[in-house]
Amino acid sequence: MMLHRDRWFLQVAPHRLFQVLNPSKVHRMPRSLPSLNFAFMGGGNMASAMIPGLKDRGLSADQIMIVDPFAEARSRMQEKHGVRVFESTRALRAHAQTPLDAAIWAVKPNTFPLAAVQANEAGVFHRSTLHMSVMAGTSTDSLSRQMGSGLVVRAMPNQAAAIGQAITGMYAPSTVSAEDRALAEEVMKTLGPVEWVEHEAQMHAVTAISGSGPAYMFQMLKAMREQGERLGLDPDQALRLAVQTMAGSAELARNSALSMDELIAQVRSPNGTTHAALETMDARGVFEGFKAGIQAAHHRSSELASPSPTAVAGSGPKMSHGPAL
Ligand SMILES: NC(=O)c1ccc[n+]([C@@H]2O[C@H](COP(=O)([O-])OP(=O)(O)OC[C@H]3O[C@@H](n4cnc5c(N)ncnc54)[C@H](OP(=O)(O)O)[C@@H]3O)[C@@H](O)[C@H]2O)c1
Repeated sequence: MMLHRDRWFLQVAPHRLFQVLNPSKVHRMPRSLPSLNFAFMGGGNMASAMIPGLKDRGLSADQIMIVDPFAEARSRMQEKHGVRVFESTRALRAHAQTPLDAAIWAVKPNTFPLAAVQANEAGVFHRSTLHMSVMAGTSTDSLSRQMGSGLVVRAMPNQAAAIGQAITGMYAPSTVSAEDRALAEEVMKTLGPVEWVEHEAQMHAVTAISGSGPAYMFQMLKAMREQGERLGLDPDQALRLAVQTMAGSAELARNSALSMDELIAQVRSPNGTTHAALETMDARGVFEGFKAGIQAAHHRSSELASPSPTAVAGSGPKMSHGPAL
């Protein structure tokens, strides 16, 4: 097939381009987590949540490096975790062993393009550096383009990362080897279990289910607290009852061989209290509304990944800070 050179470049997705231009695999020593020479780009909540798990997996504090231009973030990370901090990728280049085996991108998506340019200029990466991103809504094509590399893995954790109880959706293009996928998985497991998706578009569904999911659960707990109070309970006591009910039910659902319908049937006796509750909720459209909400999150995630003029105009000030969960 003959293609005009420029068009050929335009038609090939960035990670494919690296594969086509460099079909022979990138050769390097096998990498394992405890011997990994890597740095976090961004010393915020995500980096802080991952560090204890990395230490549990055999990394020492001085093996963990963080780049963050903000002095307050650097001292917080140093005090809390005893890790090595750098004000810029240039400083990292000057003081640490570079190029890096791996980088974990944990900055807000809107600061990523600048941070990527700075890191590339500082020369902290090699063509075999594995780039792992937890940035919401930043596609692997975009990561590949900015990093000039097809070795990119995308991950979407959730708010429960703060206590190591997140679930993380992961995607890697075919340019990433099985060995690097396993390494990225080991890194992300510091936040809780992981689920790989086959197609990148499915990351929007991951965002809609588990990325935004904690807020759905909190909303439900809030409703139970409020209604418990109306029914005569102390609101904090109502919340404790609701929280443990949610935690216990989740654990039961996780461990039971029964389907959700079968579990519901166990507690929903005919004309009983649960039956009355579920009938009323159904009649009020609670479950359909809930599903419509998940659909709206999916739609918004797709919009934010490829902003049209309408999407940007409709997003208000949040767009200036990049996609928000
Ligand atoms: N937190 C969550 O529950 C969660 C869940 C899923 C996905 N994520 C994603 O994970 C990413 C990180 O989230 P986070 O909660 O850790 O954010 P965060 O707490 O705001 O941390 C990001 C850090 O990177 C710093 N930074 C800004 N520019 C930089 C640069 N050029 N080089 C290095 N560092 C720079 C930020 O400083 P400033 O604050 O001053 O900008 C901040 O200290 C985001 O993309 C977010 O969407 C977060």
